[in-house]
Amino acid sequence: MKVTKAVIPAAGLGTRVLPASKAVPKEMLPIVDKPAIQYIVEEAVAAGITDILVITSRGKSLIEDHFDHAPELEQKLLANEKQDLYDTVVSLAHICNIQYVRQKETKGLGHAVWCAKSFVGDEPFAVLYGDDVIIPPSRPAIGEMIAAYEEYGKCVVGIKRVSLKQITKYCTLGVKKISDHIYDVYDMIEKPTPDEVISDFAILGRCLLTSDIFDLLEKTPPSRNGEIQLTDAMRVLARRGNMMGVEYSGTRYDMGNKLGILQATVEVGLSHPEIGSDFRDYLKEIAKSL
Ligand code: UTP
Repeated sequence: MKVTKAVIPAAGLGTRVLPASKAVPKEMLPIVDKPAIQYIVEEAVAAGITDILVITSRGKSLIEDHFDHAPELEQKLLANEKQDLYDTVVSLAHICNIQYVRQKETKGLGHAVWCAKSFVGDEPFAVLYGDDVIIPPSRPAIGEMIAAYEEYGKCVVGIKRVSLKQITKYCTLGVKKISDHIYDVYDMIEKPTPDEVISDFAILGRCLLTSDIFDLLEKTPPSRNGEIQLTDAMRVLARRGNMMGVEYSGTRYDMGNKLGILQATVEVGLSHPEIGSDFRDYLKEIAKSL
């Protein structure tokens, strides 16, 4: 079945980037001139997704405003003959069919995905974490994963190698290589202790799931921190032999973390068509004094 639906969980509290995320959703923090969630929606659309459900919560309504018309602003831009900016602003209201549902309590990523049950129905669907921006060299990361789903017919997680020091913050994966960048995933452990680490491969920011996940999520108890972990439900699929990993080729930036935000700003800023060259000169100058 063709993958046309995506879910973007964006209901988290963003405690790692407080106080910036107190009133502004962390998914709306910008990389140069676009909020993180716009990069994510553009990635999904570039991969052929036509319908997106964003999981929101109290205080996240700026996300809805961003993908809506802004009549006063649009009129002003037209009156001032700023056609390019007008086109940019208007296009966001038509980028694809975007719907919203509220996660009424912050019960974890697994619970956020479960909130998409009626939107998804029986179709396969992509999950793009709302604070993980992936800048691709060419093909969108979720497009690489959709291609693997179409070839193997199994659920897919987007994976990258991380340092062994870092892996304890992520989900370590048991993998067997199938072909270049494609792996069979037979096990996973969320936030492993150093003794539990299976490999340096971790799930970073993307998955492609089938609707069996909802029954599994309903049976998944909250973990130690009281949240329902998506990986606890996905582990069952992995152990049943229904999970692949795609080592996607883009660069991933964690916009839920201060260093990630700075890395994204510097790297995307350097290749920005309008300010990239001035920014490069500025960085070279400042680097002399480091
Ligand atoms: P994170 O664990 O990175 O987000 O979840 P968080 O809970 O906001 O992080 P901190 O630790 O407080 O800083 C990954 C994605 O899942 C969403 C988040 O908004 C983020 O985009 N999420 C997380 C939900 O939608 N609901 C939740 O209950 C938890």
